[in-house]
Amino acid sequence: MALTLAHLSDVHLGPLPKSAVWKDFSPKRIVGALSWKLNRCDLHDPAIATAVVEDIKAMAPDHVAFTGDLLNISALAEFQRAARWMEKFGEPAWISFVPGNHDAYVPVTWQQGLAHFAPFMTSDRAAAPANPSPFIASTFPYVRLRRNLAMIGLNSAAPQSLTKAAGTLGPVQLDALANVLRDLKAKGYYRAVMIHHPPLPGLAPSRKALSDAANLREVLWNEGAEVVLHGHNHREMLTILAGREGNIPVVGVPSASANGKGHYGPAAWNLYEITRIQGKWATRVSIRSWDPESREIVSKNQFMLPS
Ligand SMILES: [Fe+2]
Ligand SMILES: [Fe+2]
Repeated sequence: MALTLAHLSDVHLGPLPKSAVWKDFSPKRIVGALSWKLNRCDLHDPAIATAVVEDIKAMAPDHVAFTGDLLNISALAEFQRAARWMEKFGEPAWISFVPGNHDAYVPVTWQQGLAHFAPFMTSDRAAAPANPSPFIASTFPYVRLRRNLAMIGLNSAAPQSLTKAAGTLGPVQLDALANVLRDLKAKGYYRAVMIHHPPLPGLAPSRKALSDAANLREVLWNEGAEVVLHGHNHREMLTILAGREGNIPVVGVPSASANGKGHYGPAAWNLYEITRIQGKWATRVSIRSWDPESREIVSKNQFMLPS
């Protein structure tokens, strides 16, 4: 029987809560709020994100991967509202979340900030936090095992300067990832790596890129992964990394709330159907996309991932 996995990203839940900017003042939040008012609020529609969630629920996948940017300016009221949104979405054991740059937009203490999503970032394996920080108390990479599926969650989100949307993993998290990938391969798991930022060099402009993408590429090349899921670029992406022992498909999804008016195209989510045929993994991807005309989620495309 196939394992099924849904992937969505970049909900950018709006509108901005009233007075969030002034109540939680920081220059970076002002920049983010202006960007929202002048641009993003015309492109992201929470009703579309709800339609995506309902479509995922109707398909009832075994697990859900959510690769970050649930928020916009990391205002305290946004965390509280987003926690309620996640609660309505589904059980924490069913959804794995990794933070995006908009979820760590400015320094916010763990308790006021990302602790709201902690139940969706738990690890099935006890380990010391690989990247101790005042903003993050969860362990990364976390590992969640569901039948033969291993979800491996990375945290690339860290507060950035005014004009940057970059990310970083750091050597400790990268070393831990290498060990996790090696161990899970030996145990025969399908390894789905989750990261907000595009994981390879050249997939995002430097202002918005993962600073240690070359190091991550080396880890992936050496240890392999059956798929790497990311968001951040708000567009459909498929890149194949030719690894030491086989291809590593790297797949990005559009924003789950995009109405299609921008130059990135409308919202979509991907359904993965994973089977094992004669000792090899086979992965079928179905792209489910928002149709602005019918205002429904429709099947857009299906293909097999190269393995
Ligand atoms: Fe985003
Ligand atoms: Fe992002």
